[in-house]
Amino acid sequence: MRKPLIVGNWKMYKTITEAVDYVDQIKDALPDPEQEEVELAVPTLFLESLVEHTRGTNLKIVAENCFYQDEGAFTGETSPLALRELGIKHVIIGHSERRRLFYEDDATINKKVHAALSAGICPILCVDETMKRKQEHDRIVWVVSQVISGLQGVKESELSWVTIAYEPSWAIGSGNEAATPQEANEGCYLIRQTIAHLYNDEVANQVRILYGGSVNLSNIKTLMQKDDIDGVLIGRASLDATTFLEMVNYQRFGH
Ligand code: 13P
Repeated sequence: MRKPLIVGNWKMYKTITEAVDYVDQIKDALPDPEQEEVELAVPTLFLESLVEHTRGTNLKIVAENCFYQDEGAFTGETSPLALRELGIKHVIIGHSERRRLFYEDDATINKKVHAALSAGICPILCVDETMKRKQEHDRIVWVVSQVISGLQGVKESELSWVTIAYEPSWAIGSGNEAATPQEANEGCYLIRQTIAHLYNDEVANQVRILYGGSVNLSNIKTLMQKDDIDGVLIGRASLDATTFLEMVNYQRFGH
């Protein structure tokens, strides 16, 4: 049985004061982590304070990125080993914004996946799908190839540490609409089938696969009911504490 996982991704929003204020509003009102896990991915600058601030609560703080080396002359980068020392357990890797705006390619993303695993951090590997690929009916090849290259060299025994997120960039951000629950489920199903092909059915059935792209209070419940969607990555709608809290309790508040 795969446990639901809800991850808010703040991207580069908020100041530390706003971040602490937000966390104070939600940290003691979250579901039992045995039933559902709730995490917040926040800018690197806030990680240390928020990890301290949420200790002993049901909220886990996630890094939005890390580098693929533990140390070295890499100005401005973040060491996975240093994240681990802070108590970070999950890191987002290969978000479509990293791929598109910071030119991260599949080889770099694969190195980051390995670096996170070696440091003892679970990667949330994001798989993109562009509108162009969708319109050209090329989405299957595109999604499958990102899964294959992202997981290259990852052992079967390490796969239980990995979460994958299907995040089509055509559905992300204002001005875009979420994938329909069926489209989102198809993307997640495709990823699961790829893992079954690369490894086996047993591990494919254990890996958690999330959907991300314009998830909100109106669609979260339907998305979460789909067979292959084990959770969601929420951007904009996670920026408001009340909305995020309602989304986390989607069984009660979702439409
Ligand atoms: P939005 O929910 O704002 O579309 O962002 C999704 C996302 O990129 C989550 O990682």
